[in-house]
Amino acid sequence: MSKPILVATRHFPPAVEGRIARDFDVIFNDLGRPFTQAELLAAAQGADALFVSPADKLDAYFFESLPESVKVIASFSVGYDHIDLGAAAKRGVPVANTPNVLTNATADLAMLLLLGASRRASEGQDRVRSGRWRSEKLKELLGRDLGGKTLGILGLGRIGQALARRARAFDLKIHYSNRQQLPPEIEDGAVFHSNADELLGVSDFLSLHVPSTPETRYFLCRRRIELLPAGAIVVNTARGNLIKDRDLIDALKTGRIAAAGLDVFDGEPSVNPGYLDLPNVFLLPHMGSATIETRTAMGMLALDNIDAVLSKAPAPTLLHV
Ligand code: DGY
Repeated sequence: MSKPILVATRHFPPAVEGRIARDFDVIFNDLGRPFTQAELLAAAQGADALFVSPADKLDAYFFESLPESVKVIASFSVGYDHIDLGAAAKRGVPVANTPNVLTNATADLAMLLLLGASRRASEGQDRVRSGRWRSEKLKELLGRDLGGKTLGILGLGRIGQALARRARAFDLKIHYSNRQQLPPEIEDGAVFHSNADELLGVSDFLSLHVPSTPETRYFLCRRRIELLPAGAIVVNTARGNLIKDRDLIDALKTGRIAAAGLDVFDGEPSVNPGYLDLPNVFLLPHMGSATIETRTAMGMLALDNIDAVLSKAPAPTLLHV
C-alpha cells in the first residue's frame, strides 16, 4: 500500500524523522531557508499533509490556493500567529499545534533569561572569552538579586504558570495580568491585576507570555516602559513583536531598563542591530523549546495529529477558530 505524502518544511530530531520515514513519502525543505509561499504551494501539490513551522506564513491567499489533496496541517509550535485559522476553516482543512509538551522547556529558558539578564551573563562570558579577565574587581559586573523582588507575568497560561513555579523557588513575588483572574489553586498566591498597565507599575522583572495578536502587538512601547520601576528587567520568550524594539533599545541605553533577556525578535531571524552592541542584553536565537526531549515530543505530537486526521480518528490538539 502506498504511503501518504507529507511535506515537511524543516528537519526534525532523529526519532521524529525516523517515524516520518517509516510512515510517509516525505518531501523535506532542504533549501537552508524557509520555503517561499509559492514554493510551499508547489511542494504541496498532491501531498496529503503539511508539517510546517512559524517560519511559514499561512495566510488567506495560501488557503485559497492550497491543493485539494491536502487534508491536514500540523505546526511545530504552540504559537499559531503565522496561520490564518479563519481561512483554514473556510477551506475546511484542520490545523494542529503542539501545546503542553514545550511548557517546561520554555519556562526553563525564561528563567535562564531572567538570571542571565539580571546577573550580566553576556558581559561576564564576553570577558572570559575575550581574555579580558585580568584581576578580581569587586565592584565590577554587579548584577541584581532576584530574591524579594516582584516578577510580573503578562499572561499566566501554561508557560507563565510554569515560570511562576520556578520563580517562587528564587524567592520572587509573583504578580500577573490575564484576561480573567484565575482560580486560587492556580494563582497559588500570585496577585492579579485586571489592568496590564497596573502590573507594569509593580514589576521589577517583567516576563511576557501572551500570544501575538492585534491587541498585544507592540505591547511594550515607550509609554508602558515608563510605567515600569526604574531599573526594571524585561524578558521575552513569547513573540518578538510584543516589544517595540526601538523603544526598548532607547530605554536600555539610558539604563531606564537595566537589562533585557530576549529569545524572540520582531522579524526574526533578523535582529534589530540596535541590540547587538548593548552589553545589557542577553540574546538567544528563539530556542525556548530547544531540548532533544521537547523537540522530539513536539514532533511526535504533530505526527499524532496528522495520523489521526488521515485515519479519521479524533486528533489530540486541533486548533479551532
Ligand atoms: C512555539 O512553539 O510557538 C515556539 O515559540 C516555537 O516557535
